[in-house]
Order: sequence, then C-alpha cells, then structure tokens
Amino acid sequence: DRSIKIAPSILSADFANFGAEIEAIEAQGADWVHIDVMDGHFVPNLTFGPPAVAAFRKHVKTVMDVHLMIAPVDPYIDAFAKAGADIITAHVEAGPHIHRTLQAIRGAGCKAGVALNPGTPAEAIYPLMDLIDMVCVMTVNPGFGGQKFIHSCVEKVADIRNKIGDRPIHIEIDGGVDPTTAPLVAAAGADVLVAGSAVFKGGTVNTPDVYGANIQAI
Ligand code: DX5
Ligand code: ZN
Repeated sequence: DRSIKIAPSILSADFANFGAEIEAIEAQGADWVHIDVMDGHFVPNLTFGPPAVAAFRKHVKTVMDVHLMIAPVDPYIDAFAKAGADIITAHVEAGPHIHRTLQAIRGAGCKAGVALNPGTPAEAIYPLMDLIDMVCVMTVNPGFGGQKFIHSCVEKVADIRNKIGDRPIHIEIDGGVDPTTAPLVAAAGADVLVAGSAVFKGGTVNTPDVYGANIQAI
C-alpha cells in the first residue's frame, strides 16, 4: 500500500557515512529521513545534536523528520529549527509543559509532532490536537534500533486515528517496523512508518539496492 510513507531512521545507518547513507536511502525510495536525537538523559543512549543535524540537512532532499528523545526540549527547539528540521517531534513525557513546547516548535517555523512511549495512554495527547501535525506512536521503548515490536501499542494507533477524525494529522509508527508488523499498524490507521534496522539490514552504502529492496518489502 504505497499511500504509506516510509521514513528510514539513520540510527541504524553507518555513523561514519551519514551523508552518503542519506543520499542512498532517498535514491532508493525513502519518503522522509528520520533523525533520532538522543541525550543520554531522557533515553539511555546518546546520538547527535544540532551541528550534526545541520550537516545532514545538506544531504536531505525529502523531509527531515527530527525525533527529539531529549529532556528538557524547549532550550533546543530553535537550534534544531535553524539546523533545518522540517518536523520536530517532542515526547509528551519529556516535561510538564508539552502544550507550550508544541507552540514553540510551530513558532520556530517547523511542523510539530508529539511522541508517546509504550506506557503512555493515547488520551495524553487528546488536549493537543490543534497544536500538532503528527503523532508518533512508539512501538518500542526508545533508545535503540533493532528492538522487538510491542504489539500492545497497536490498539493505541486505532484509538488515535479515531480521535484525529478528518484533521490533517499524520500517525507515525516508530520502532520494530518490518514487513510483518507494518501491515498491522497500517490497518490500524498509521500513514508514516519509521524503519531503521528493517531498511539498513544486510546492506551498506556501497550496496544501496539492498536498501531499496528492504524499503519495498515493508
Ligand atoms: C528508537 C528510535 C527509532 C529506532 C527505530 O528510540 O526512535 O526511530 O531508530 O529503529 P528500528 O526500526 O530498528 O526499531
Ligand atoms: Zn525515532
């Protein structure tokens, strides 16, 4: 079903060749590029910050979908907006003022996303419907690629799709998406699928056609 967008996550890419990896996945059919920013505080891993994201921007021709797994979020919104993020997604669990954070993301000129961890109920984002362009439903506990899909999150996707109604809000699924789990979340109402290990597995930047085959298989 090609109405579904695929957003490969560069967390599973070669950390010594981000520019070439980004160009490879976009040439092979990626609709968006998912950038996982981790601070070693909100999640138990550490990736990259605004300077790296600004460098990635030079290679991204599609959509730069920046997933902030950081707390606090507000002090960094302007830096990621200036780095060229098209979408900035903040976690509802990252602090007490998600409503203000989402206003600040739009105020910085970016589309606003809100992410929910597997333990957070769908209702947590119901007050935010007028502030967001996307809901990111985590189907793994954030911090790492290659983890197992948490099936109990699928029901949450359907609930959110129902709540969204005809509002122009994307539902993005993040974590453990592969050819087996993708149909489950697509059927539940998701329209953007993040995939890291399922896209990059078995290939290298010198064999980009493997990435293309992996993307088509999802
Ligand atoms: C996890 C990240 C995900 C992850 C997805 O904290 O937010 O985007 O990179 O990787 P896979 O698709 O391998 O689960
Ligand atoms: Zn992510």
